[in-house]
Amino acid sequence: MLIPDYWYAILESREVPVGKPVGVRRFGQELVAWRDGAGRVSLMNDRCPHRSSRLSIGKIKSGHLQCPFHGFEFSADGACQLIPANGKAAAIPRIFQCTVYQTQEAHGFIWAWYGRPRASYPPLPWFSELEGFEVDTTRVPWDADHSRAIEGLLDVSHLPFVHARTIGRGQRTLVNGPYTTLEDDSIQIWVSNQPDAGLPAAKPTQLPPPEGPAMLVFRFPNLWQIRLSETVRAVNVIAPVADGECVIYMQSCLKMNLPRRLVRLIAWLSNVFNRRILAEDYLVIREQRPKVADLEIGERFIPADRPIALYLKRRRELIEAFENVDQTSQEEHTRV
Ligand code: FES
Ligand SMILES: [Fe+2]
Repeated sequence: MLIPDYWYAILESREVPVGKPVGVRRFGQELVAWRDGAGRVSLMNDRCPHRSSRLSIGKIKSGHLQCPFHGFEFSADGACQLIPANGKAAAIPRIFQCTVYQTQEAHGFIWAWYGRPRASYPPLPWFSELEGFEVDTTRVPWDADHSRAIEGLLDVSHLPFVHARTIGRGQRTLVNGPYTTLEDDSIQIWVSNQPDAGLPAAKPTQLPPPEGPAMLVFRFPNLWQIRLSETVRAVNVIAPVADGECVIYMQSCLKMNLPRRLVRLIAWLSNVFNRRILAEDYLVIREQRPKVADLEIGERFIPADRPIALYLKRRRELIEAFENVDQTSQEEHTRV
């Protein structure tokens, strides 16, 4: 279940080399990503409009994607440029058009617009404060839905259990608050967990307003950041592959007054540790049923689950808003 009309970070830039098409599953679709003569990324359905061969096993030829079966050539906008059997001089019928996704490339990722085409698109959702950080990215495929992965990243009460031997040491089982806000497509969470000293957990309203920036931030539709300090962050991009499958791109982001190569090495090493933490999460999250998260599937919430409930509620609102607009425009269309 995807929220339409958003930019999704779906692939790392380096996963799509120059000169070679790449077959990839995202949004429940078989897609082909490739670069044209100018290095621009194109993302299309991995199916030739002629006889349905997979374009991803084809070639790049003079900046076009060439189908391996009968050699039809397509430009980055999906338009067919050549039908060899008809001859170079022949006109090309418009029916030989591939389905393309609007894409952008920025911050080391390829972004795809999942939704209705528009005359102009909103800016990419990103954490602009990370400019100037050194980044190491590691890719982790999960046999779990992106919604479950996001829930897990917003879950502030699992640490002493799932990560008992790593980041959850210290038996800080009591979750005060958490103080949580939703604003401009961002959920911000201030975490204050502590050992259970015999008093019930404080409600968000009993906590003093938080000082300083939130420790956890989720940006719709698929970006998450933990702020470990002003100069140490981790970002997860949760790319939806299909219902029940996702790829998590984990980034360790550091700002240090050390030679660049050394900072990169430290970021790489911290990502080795991050992989271990994520592997602990995976053991429980891949077992959740149903695989796709939602409200009203028989799950019960506790106050510590507030960030998760906010995510699910907002996701529902966004999907419903899209469906309502879609219905209205269809009705208007019918009236015309
Ligand atoms: S199937 Fe692609 S050119 Fe025929
Ligand atoms: Fe976790």
